[in-house]
Amino acid sequence: MCGIVAGISEKNITPILLEGLKKLEYRGYDSSGISLLFDNEFSLLKETGKVKNLELSISKECSFFGKLGLAHTRWSTHGKVSKENAHPHNSKNFSIVHNGIIENYLGLKGDLIKKGYDFKSETDSEVILYILEESYKSSGSVFKAIQDVIQKTKGSYALGIIHRKNEEVVWSVKKDSPLVIGKTKDMSLMASDKNAIDSCTEEIYYLGDNEIAKLEKKGVTFFTSDGKILYKEGIKIDKNQEIVGKGGFEYFMEKEIYEQPEVIKNTLKNRIKKESIYLDELNRYKRELKKIENVEIISCGTSNHAALISKYWFENILNIPCEVIIASEYRYKTLLTRKNTLFITLSQSGETADTLSALKLINEKNKHLLSISVCNVEGSSIPRESDLTLLTNAGKEIGVASTKAFTSQLAVMLMLIYSIGREKRSLDKEMNSYIIKSLKKLPIKMEEFLNASTSLDSFIKTLENTTSALYIGRSEYGALAMEGALKLKEISYIHSESFYAGELKHGSLALIDENTPVIAIAPFNELFDKIYSNIEEILARNGKVLMLSDKHIISENLISIKMPECPEILKPICYSIPLQYLAFKTAKLKGTDIDKPRNLAKSVTVE
Ligand code: F6R
Repeated sequence: MCGIVAGISEKNITPILLEGLKKLEYRGYDSSGISLLFDNEFSLLKETGKVKNLELSISKECSFFGKLGLAHTRWSTHGKVSKENAHPHNSKNFSIVHNGIIENYLGLKGDLIKKGYDFKSETDSEVILYILEESYKSSGSVFKAIQDVIQKTKGSYALGIIHRKNEEVVWSVKKDSPLVIGKTKDMSLMASDKNAIDSCTEEIYYLGDNEIAKLEKKGVTFFTSDGKILYKEGIKIDKNQEIVGKGGFEYFMEKEIYEQPEVIKNTLKNRIKKESIYLDELNRYKRELKKIENVEIISCGTSNHAALISKYWFENILNIPCEVIIASEYRYKTLLTRKNTLFITLSQSGETADTLSALKLINEKNKHLLSISVCNVEGSSIPRESDLTLLTNAGKEIGVASTKAFTSQLAVMLMLIYSIGREKRSLDKEMNSYIIKSLKKLPIKMEEFLNASTSLDSFIKTLENTTSALYIGRSEYGALAMEGALKLKEISYIHSESFYAGELKHGSLALIDENTPVIAIAPFNELFDKIYSNIEEILARNGKVLMLSDKHIISENLISIKMPECPEILKPICYSIPLQYLAFKTAKLKGTDIDKPRNLAKSVTVE
C-alpha cells in the first residue's frame, strides 16, 4: 500500500529517497514519484509502474538535485493509475505526499473549488494541498496550515510536507496511518515503514496520531497538535539486522514456503524448554490469564484464517468460547464484549488499518480483560497499542501472499492456548504433554509435508487451465479451505471458493461439473467418513476431486494424494503447506507476478 520516504540531508537526497522507495516496493503499489526543492523551486517526476521507471526518468534529468525532498509509491484508492494521480502533489507553495484516505474529501473539494482552486488529479489527497495553501495565505504559518489540515480532514493520513520558501524543513503529521521518523547527525528522514530508512539512520521515533514533526538536518522537533513541544525517546536501530534475499529461489514466496521448517524452529526457540512452554511476555499477566472466560480474535485475510483455526483450539482444548470477527466488520457492529474477555489481534505486518482501528476501539471502550497481539513485526502499530505482544519471529515476509507468517501465527496460538490452560489449570497431564511433544515435532513434520507436496505436480496442469476451483474441509480444515482458496486466487487469479464440506448440498453443489476441480482437505480423523461422503456426492456428479489425506483411496475421478502421518493438532499447520505449494506452482505456470500480485498490497494501511 502507499509508501512514503522523505527527508533532509547535507547532500543530494535523491539516492536515499530512491533506495527507500525500492525497500517499500514489497508493500504493493502502482506508480511512484519524487519531488525535490532547490533554490526555492520544486522539481517533480512521476511515473506509473515500477520504481525502476522513475529511476530511469531521474537518470535522464541532468539537474535533478535537492537536499530535501519527498518520495512516494501510490496504491490507487481514489482515481485511476496515472501520472496525474501519482504523488507528490504540488501547488504554488507546497509539495506533499499522502498515505491514507481523506473520507470527507468530496465536501472539502467542493468548498475549495468555490474558492478558485483548480484540481489537477482525481485523488482525495489533493484537498490537503489546497487546505495548506488557503490557510498559509491568511496566516503565513506552515505550522498553522498543518493544524488546519488536522482540524478539517476526517480519515487517515501520514503526510510529508515541504514549503517552497523553506529549504531547511520537512514537515510531517499523521493520524491512523503508519509513520516513522529517523535521524543521524546530519540527516533526518521519515518513512511509512522503518525498512525504508533503517540502513541510513541511527535512531527512530514513532509519531503518534496528530503529532507534528519538524525535520531539519541537525535534528527533529516533535509537537502536539496545539503546538507544545514533545519529548520522544529514540529507539536505536539494530545494524545487525538480516538482509533479506531470495536465498537462491526465483521468488520470495517460494523461499518463504520452503524455509518454514526453519522459521518454525525460530518461533519455538527459547519458548519450549524440556517439558513445558514459556512465553515470558505473559509473566506479568498471570492474574488476567487465570480469569479469562471468553476470547475474541480480530484480524483480516490470511490472519483471519489462522484465527478461525485457533477458535477450534480454544473451544476444543480449553473449553473457552471464542469469537472470530473480521476486523473491518468489528468496528461497525454493536460491541457485546462479555465479561473477562481476552482480546487477540492477529497480524503479520502489525499495520493493517482495520485491525488497528478495532484494537483502538476496544481500548477506548476498555471493557476487555487483556489485549494480546500476535505479530511478526516488532515495534509496529498494533503491538504498540496492545497490552502485550507475542512475536511470531518468522523473519521478514516479502511475498504479498502470506505463508510463513500464517504457520508461525498458528504455532504461537498453540503455545498461547497451552499457557492459558496451564494458568487456569484446565489442561490434564495427557493434553499437556501431547501439545508439547507435538510442537517439538512440528519442524520435521513440515519438512515431510514439503517433500510430499511434489506429488501435486501432476495436478497443476489441471488447475492452470481451469477458470474456477473449489476447496472443501470440515471444522479446522473448513477454515484451512478458505486459506487454500485465497492463496490460489490471489496469486494465480483463478476464481476459487471454499466451503465447509457439509454445506455443499445446501446450494453450492450446483457448481459441480467436470471442469471445476474440488480440492478436499480430508485428514484421516473422526470426521473423515463425513467429508468422504461429501466427496462421493461430488464424484457422483462427475466432479473431479483432489483429496489431501493421510488415507489413500482409489476411486474413479478421485486424485488421492497421500500426506504424511502427523499428530492431529499439527495438521491444520502442516496441511497448509501443500495448499501453498499448489497455489505457487499454478501461478508460476501461469506466469503471474507472484511476489506482487496485481491490485494487492502487503501492508494494508487504509480502511
Ligand atoms: C493473503 C494476505 C492477506 C493478509 C491481510 C492481513 O495472503 O497476506 O490476506 O493476511 O491483509 O494482513 P496482516 O496479517 O498483516 O494484518
